[in-house]
Amino acid sequence: MGGKLPVVMPVYGTRPEAIKMAPIIKELEKSPDLDCFVTVTGQHREMLDQVNTLFGIVPDHDLNIFQPGQSLNGILTRTLDGLDKLFSVNRPDVVLVQGDTTTSMGAALAAFNHGIPVAHVEAGLRSGDLWSPFPEEGNRKLITQIASLHLAPTETSRQNLLRENVPDEDIVVTGNTVIDALLETVGKNVPFNDPRLEQLAASGKRVLLVTTHRRENQGEAMRGIGRALARIASDEPDLSVVFPAHANPAVREAVLPAVNGLPNVLVTEPLSYGEFCRLLSLAYVVLTDSGGIQEEAPSLGIPVLVMRDNTERPEAVLSGTAKLIGTSEDRIAAEVLLLLHDRYHFKSMAEATNPYGSGDAAATTVNALERRAALRC
Ligand code: UD1
Ligand code: UDP
Repeated sequence: MGGKLPVVMPVYGTRPEAIKMAPIIKELEKSPDLDCFVTVTGQHREMLDQVNTLFGIVPDHDLNIFQPGQSLNGILTRTLDGLDKLFSVNRPDVVLVQGDTTTSMGAALAAFNHGIPVAHVEAGLRSGDLWSPFPEEGNRKLITQIASLHLAPTETSRQNLLRENVPDEDIVVTGNTVIDALLETVGKNVPFNDPRLEQLAASGKRVLLVTTHRRENQGEAMRGIGRALARIASDEPDLSVVFPAHANPAVREAVLPAVNGLPNVLVTEPLSYGEFCRLLSLAYVVLTDSGGIQEEAPSLGIPVLVMRDNTERPEAVLSGTAKLIGTSEDRIAAEVLLLLHDRYHFKSMAEATNPYGSGDAAATTVNALERRAALRC
């Protein structure tokens, strides 16, 4: 740092933040008006590094806070402490945070306490339930209180912010940068490291792609998800159930006992983003509690069953490509089987929609940052 241009410091720490921040960093690097200093907290480790490697991003600074079995407050205190030290030697003009993780909330708070303006990417999502997603709904609301610029992905999220009295002039609707990342990556047909996935791709079999990791689903709900997968796999021997398991041991301990040894359930390590996009494009149905995958699958026209009771991403549900199905074992099995057997129902959900933008969200975001930086506020 130290040049004359205003410095934007993206701070991120988990896989989904990295995926959604990458297109913005690429765009910032091209900006004639802004400098960029990339800081990662390292809340995630290998899952974060995979994404940075794929997009060719080498962070300028790494707080390296990851600890196995880390607690939310542990992540938060190490983020605050690390950024305190960094800001005392490298003070950016704007800190850019993405989404709703503990890294994002901690980085926003650390910047605010240093009097540094915060710009919030993917602002304004609300489930309306403080406890779901937990702690993300709370994190997002906290960031809104201390951000100066709110980059809302959709008109719905803009309206949520206006209802909370955020000034209209501080909100810019950008689309979601996950679509930029997806469109750049999905056509690349990257090879799978796991030979079982290459065999599956060649087989042409129908694929049920499953992910789960939400904290509020850990424990009994996640064990039920595992049992539902086992039932679906036994009822549908020609179907391939693919489960890229999150690195979190709590996820593996809950889901894997029910599916271990089933011939048509393929459990993998977390896939690199390039591999995951390829797998997503091969999927017949997606079953997930992920936020980002709720945004990606609709743009590929793949039906998404969302294993949650509510969502802060209502757009795809309203357009019909996504359906909230909760976490009961019976309901999960019934909804998947319905999609597999009822062609009319399948077709009614398999409509490609792009409620999250058409791939220019990063350019719109950087444009908003440039205009703001010119005003020095
Ligand atoms: C975090 C975010 C969540 C986001 C998710 C994306 C918070 C509160 N939660 O949840 O919003 O949806 O990331 O995946 O910020 N682990 C590893 N290696 C890794 C990453 C995780 O081993 O690269 C394991 C560790 O045991 C870690 C556990 O997973 O303790 C949980 O990781 P953590 O970042 O605390 O929370 P997530 O549940 O991943
Ligand atoms: N993803 C990935 N590899 C995987 C599973 C998911 O790259 O094995 C990507 C996926 O395409 C999406 C993002 O990770 O962009 C979602 O991350 P996650 O579900 O962990 O978090 P959330 O979006 O729920 O916060």
